[in-house]
Amino acid sequence: MARALDGAAIAAAIKAEVAEEVKRLAARGVRPGLAAVLVGHIPASEMYVRSKVQTCGELGLYSDLIAPPETVTTEEMMDLVASLNDRDEIDGILVQLPLPKQVDTKALLDRVSPAKDVDGFHPVNAGKLQAGRPALAPCTPEGIIEILDRSGIAIEGQRAVVVGRSDIVGKPVAMLLLNRHATVTICHSKTRDLGAVTREADILVAAIGRAGLITPEMVKPGATIVDVGINRITEQADFDRFFAGNAKRTESFAKRGSTIVGDVHPRAYELAGAYTPVPGGVGPLTIAMLMSNTVRAAKMRRGL
Ligand code: GUN
Repeated sequence: MARALDGAAIAAAIKAEVAEEVKRLAARGVRPGLAAVLVGHIPASEMYVRSKVQTCGELGLYSDLIAPPETVTTEEMMDLVASLNDRDEIDGILVQLPLPKQVDTKALLDRVSPAKDVDGFHPVNAGKLQAGRPALAPCTPEGIIEILDRSGIAIEGQRAVVVGRSDIVGKPVAMLLLNRHATVTICHSKTRDLGAVTREADILVAAIGRAGLITPEMVKPGATIVDVGINRITEQADFDRFFAGNAKRTESFAKRGSTIVGDVHPRAYELAGAYTPVPGGVGPLTIAMLMSNTVRAAKMRRGL
């Protein structure tokens, strides 16, 4: 029977550790602070940012939510980020993506001080990660490593296959796994005979953003599956393909008209030794690691 890895429980443990560290820093007169920048009214972005700010409060971090108008220009955003770089009570700067199309996202992310880049998106931090040097790394990839470590799943010497090459998940998680001495292969939409590669994986990370792309015959029995996908499905045919016979899902799909599926077909989980479910696997770690990175940035900036 495949073991479901409980991301919510692991995230709660990390958050408790961060709260302890925040208390220790308070005794030294330091309060880590996060600035969250949210532009526009994308429901998912609003939900994530609200949750990030709320978690800061729960763990004792200072937070500042800044919501420029949807018509904001690149120049105005550059000025905003520059002012956050200069504010001493701000240790981490989070610019929620995606931004409106008139804003030059790359130029803006380059403007964030690498020392306050708690998302790990700045090229300086990407370069340090690549060079195996201490750096602020993207939160979801860091969370994946935490799940593996805290679940007792070895990384060193294992064959890891990452499906997806995004700057936010695929590339950085591949680097983190490589730095931990896994043998890493990165696959993507142009990879020939994807299944032949994924079947080699002891650790299979699916982060390509395609509902149920990884099917049972693409998985080596006993492998660890890390499913990073969050895909909303609304069509009955899709639902039947993934969840036929699942009473709980059938009920919630009937009620809401939609449900969430990962990049891995749920029947493929059954072959795994361990897997991260969707929802409740990797997702909860992202905010926990953002908090952890903010505290880390606060300490690094003060030489602690
Ligand atoms: N949008 C989707 N994921 C992320 C993330 O990890 N960080 C930021 N800033 N925006 C996102």
